[in-house]
Amino acid sequence: MASYLVTGVSRGLGFEFLKQLSDDADNTVFGLVRDKAATDTKVKSQLGERPNVHILAADITNYDAIKKSVDYVAEVTGGKLDYIIANAAFQSEVSAFAGIGDFVDKPDILEKDLFDNFNINAVGNIHLINLYLPLILRGSAKKVIAISTGMADLDLITKFNIANGAPYAISKAALNTAIGKFSAQYSDQGVLFMSISPGFVNTGAWDNPTEEMKQGAAIMGAKFAKYAPHFKGPITPTESVSHVMAVFKKASVENGDGGSFVSHFGNKQWL
Ligand SMILES: NC(=O)c1ccc[n+]([C@@H]2O[C@H](COP(=O)([O-])OP(=O)(O)OC[C@H]3O[C@@H](n4cnc5c(N)ncnc54)[C@H](OP(=O)(O)O)[C@@H]3O)[C@@H](O)[C@H]2O)c1
Repeated sequence: MASYLVTGVSRGLGFEFLKQLSDDADNTVFGLVRDKAATDTKVKSQLGERPNVHILAADITNYDAIKKSVDYVAEVTGGKLDYIIANAAFQSEVSAFAGIGDFVDKPDILEKDLFDNFNINAVGNIHLINLYLPLILRGSAKKVIAISTGMADLDLITKFNIANGAPYAISKAALNTAIGKFSAQYSDQGVLFMSISPGFVNTGAWDNPTEEMKQGAAIMGAKFAKYAPHFKGPITPTESVSHVMAVFKKASVENGDGGSFVSHFGNKQWL
């Protein structure tokens, strides 16, 4: 019997985490979302009545709302929590297919995009983890997992010239460093912190691609083919979540996994 907090369960990988974790009736799963009513309706229609699922409202940039959610979780669990899966993220459309140098004449747009990414993906998660840490310290599993991206891996960026998506990659690199810092501070109290990339996953964002997306995908596809000749296309949320869960279930502070940044395979193979 374990308790989980998963952020961003309204859709995509977050919803799949919520589904797979709550398939086990012994688990208690808290899902943090911005739109609670819509997510409650979705959970009910797609998963049915699940008494072990609790949907809580909080934007992860809203410190007070997160704090309120901590109080709710503590009341249900008796003041403890086993796992955090910090999954929610801002994925910018402004810079998804543009290079960092393409904004030289648009500094305001670049700056806003950098701040939006950093505010949600790094700062929001840092507040989230700080606020939930007292519960984690009283939990049994003591595992905090940040969902990151291979796009933040310097070796991948530089060896394969992955120029697009810079603000997103920078914010996730900051998140990875924050996870390392949390690990440095709390690993001796038995808390495992890890950043895990879920792979390239089809969460529906590509169902109706724009012209820009198609062109961007062709460029990325060529780079991915060079990086991972075996790569045939995105995996499903079901596959990704199963892989990610296997990685963090196996990982431990004792095995030296604290603060690490790995893929859904548990290594540095991102695709
Ligand atoms: N899909 C991939 O191929 C891929 C690859 C690498 C890494 N990742 C990472 O995997 C995670 C999940 O990705 P995904 O593809 O499932 O993303 P997604 O479909 O875009 O879902 C993002 C989730 O984050 C939530 N969110 C965004 N901003 C928020 C905020 N300020 N406060 C609270 N919640 C917020 C969204 O809620 P709303 O519904 O309210 O907008 C949504 O639930 C992310 O961390 C992403 O960076 C994904």
